[in-house]
Amino acid sequence: MTDAPAAAADPAASLTVRDNRTGSEYEVPIVDGTIRAADLGKIRTSDEEPGLAVYDPGFVNTASCRSAVTFIDGDKGILEYRGYPIEQLAEKSNFLEVAYLLIHGELPTKEQYDAWVHEITYHTFVHENVKSFMHGFRYDAHPMGMLMASVGALSTFYPDARNIDDPANRHMQIVRMIAKMPTLGAWSFRHAQGKPFVYPDNELSYTENFLSMLFKMSEQKFDADPRLAKALDVLLILHADHEQNCSTNAVRSVGSSQVDPYSAVAAGVAALYGPLHGGANEAVLRMLRRIGSKENIPAFIEGVKAGNEKLMGFGHRVYKNFDPRATIIKKACDDVFEVTGVNPLLEIAQELEKIALEDEYFIKRKLYPNVDFYSGLIYEALQFPPEMFTVLFAIGRTPGWLAQWNELIQDKEQKIARPKQIYTGDRQLTFVPAEERWA
Ligand SMILES: CC(C)(COP(=O)(O)OP(=O)(O)OC[C@H]1O[C@@H](n2cnc3c(N)ncnc32)[C@H](O)[C@@H]1OP(=O)(O)O)[C@@H](O)C(=O)NCCC(=O)NCCS
Repeated sequence: MTDAPAAAADPAASLTVRDNRTGSEYEVPIVDGTIRAADLGKIRTSDEEPGLAVYDPGFVNTASCRSAVTFIDGDKGILEYRGYPIEQLAEKSNFLEVAYLLIHGELPTKEQYDAWVHEITYHTFVHENVKSFMHGFRYDAHPMGMLMASVGALSTFYPDARNIDDPANRHMQIVRMIAKMPTLGAWSFRHAQGKPFVYPDNELSYTENFLSMLFKMSEQKFDADPRLAKALDVLLILHADHEQNCSTNAVRSVGSSQVDPYSAVAAGVAALYGPLHGGANEAVLRMLRRIGSKENIPAFIEGVKAGNEKLMGFGHRVYKNFDPRATIIKKACDDVFEVTGVNPLLEIAQELEKIALEDEYFIKRKLYPNVDFYSGLIYEALQFPPEMFTVLFAIGRTPGWLAQWNELIQDKEQKIARPKQIYTGDRQLTFVPAEERWA
């Protein structure tokens, strides 16, 4: 992990701050386009008063770490993992190679790749007790809730995982988690369907094995259509990391207490469970169903423009020209529908996209389809119920969470996450005991 430069090399790269309360001036170095919040803390009216702090709910303009994992340029629609463009990885790589890249920082040699795939494949099984407690969930338990609980529970099966300062130990837990997430995700799905759990098949690829654990019934061997396995693999790649989003921030924040990685990743799954993070593609499907037919699109668009509702799957906090993942997903749609037959909602989605992209309202606000606009359609075509969409996202995001966690653990600058607050409550009240207050 790179240490931050002690001060800006270029003396002109600084900010002169004049505190009008005191008339004092301060030089604050600018490094990598940021100033240090601690430097602002030196700005104070007296020794007794706390220094100046920044107020940033949702961390919209605060860098919490230095990271070499993922680069995003939202204006230009660029997403790179360890410097490699997402388009190239989606087209020419596979999920396990991308996972290796994210975790290790560089592409594997043939030997490293084979060893990595072997390790991941042979850690797909979970302890039988995991199976027992997963059976204990209510019949209609949400699979994401089950995934969150079961990945957290793995910390009790691997108590040595708390030795986070040992690189070999960290590697072991990283392998285990990438290997076991599909098992836990598939079993959460099977539980909701009242079907028996399917054990991993280590002769299959990562994605084929996942499909087998999800859909295998009485056949000897589950034979996934390679085009569907490939489409799912691409979807996992597209979701593998997205720098400091809500769930990654949760993993880092919880991980900063130096807890084991299973607990930190469970926090990431919890964050992803929320509708503002992982649930938009489900909302897209609901919206498309409600629109019902192409004829109803103009009226729907008018409603959006009047502010009655949002066009789900459009717009992004970071991407303001296009979401590179959406372009790749659109191509994957074609491949999947070639096998499964076209989802009737696709026609509505395509027409909706066409109309919106030509409409002044969306052009002016730089609203383009995001990753969720088409992913729900693919998941549905692959026979996933909407509750499973976020589980798939979580399985894809696991290498990213772990790469970020691994980076955090080795970053000498990191401290336990502990934001400041602006206190707005009462002070110095006198406590009156209950018997007097209620008398
Ligand atoms: C993703 C999202 C939360 C980003 O929000 P944001 O960066 O905070 O953008 P803002 O809310 O500031 O939106 C800017 C303007 O575009 C409008 N807008 C943003 N997304 C819109 C959408 N999907 N449909 C219609 N209008 C939208 C806002 O109403 C606002 O208009 P105004 O300037 O007239 O008030 C937002 O675009 C959204 O809710 N999209 C739909 C949900 C979705 O697809 N989420 C998945 C993200 S991967």
